[in-house]
Amino acid sequence: MPRDRRDYFYKKAQKEGYRSRAAYKLKQISERFNLINKGSIVVDLGAAPGGWCQVAQELSGGKVVGVDILPIKEIEGVEIIKGDIRLDSTVEKIRELIKKEGADVVLCDAAPNLSGNWSYDHARSIDLASSALECAKKILKPGGGFAVKVFQGDMFPAFMNKVRGRFKKVQAFSPQASRKQSAEIYVIGNHLINDAVKLGREYTVTIEDIGADGDGIAKINDLVVFVKRATKGETLKIRIREIKTKFAFGEVIP
Ligand SMILES: C[S@@+](CC[C@H](N)C(=O)[O-])C[C@H]1O[C@@H](n2cnc3c(N)ncnc32)[C@H](O)[C@@H]1O
Repeated sequence: MPRDRRDYFYKKAQKEGYRSRAAYKLKQISERFNLINKGSIVVDLGAAPGGWCQVAQELSGGKVVGVDILPIKEIEGVEIIKGDIRLDSTVEKIRELIKKEGADVVLCDAAPNLSGNWSYDHARSIDLASSALECAKKILKPGGGFAVKVFQGDMFPAFMNKVRGRFKKVQAFSPQASRKQSAEIYVIGNHLINDAVKLGREYTVTIEDIGADGDGIAKINDLVVFVKRATKGETLKIRIREIKTKFAFGEVIP
């Protein structure tokens, strides 16, 4: 980014009370991809000093969790976890905060300390982005959204494919507030695909209840599956015939 544009976002952030220029990148990403809505539960990985957390809190007004290895000074309405996003113990702490409900959006602007060795820095950036993707898969609600920063390089196409495997729509985006010559790019995934069940696969289930419209209700990996012509308490073999965001339909195998 030319110096005058960098100064522009820097001064704007200072004037408007944001902790980083990066705040404007999240504003642009969220607006363009309709990522954060009122009431969204947002988890921000690699969040220090907190510019993205401020924007996420403004846009959602709901629960926002910021995570970083570095300390983050208190932000009203934001819960902070100090931890390494590559560790399972950190993901567990996030889970405890958002409980079973899950997150609507996982963001990751984490960046390694740059060494100046391009392929090394690229590999470390891909490693962080992959940790963010694994975390997103564990904590996002089905249908949830994801945005992650990556430094471009030869491992980028393989990373894009990994994200494509789990979200309905995946795009790469370079916000205006990013430096022009910067190799950073954001990968945005909209609508996490539910993989609790597989289409066409057979399962043995027990009908736990009967829904308002008379369908049997079973659960597979916490996902509600509606089964026609089933009675409460019976155990049957079903095949998954349709998967929606928060539930699925199964048919009895005679
Ligand atoms: C560019 S800054 C994030 C700026 C932030 N989005 C904002 O608007 O204020 C990148 C952050 O990633 C953090 N980071 C790098 N590796 C990390 C890791 N393994 N776990 C947690 N945070 C990490 C760094 O400490 C740094 O604070």
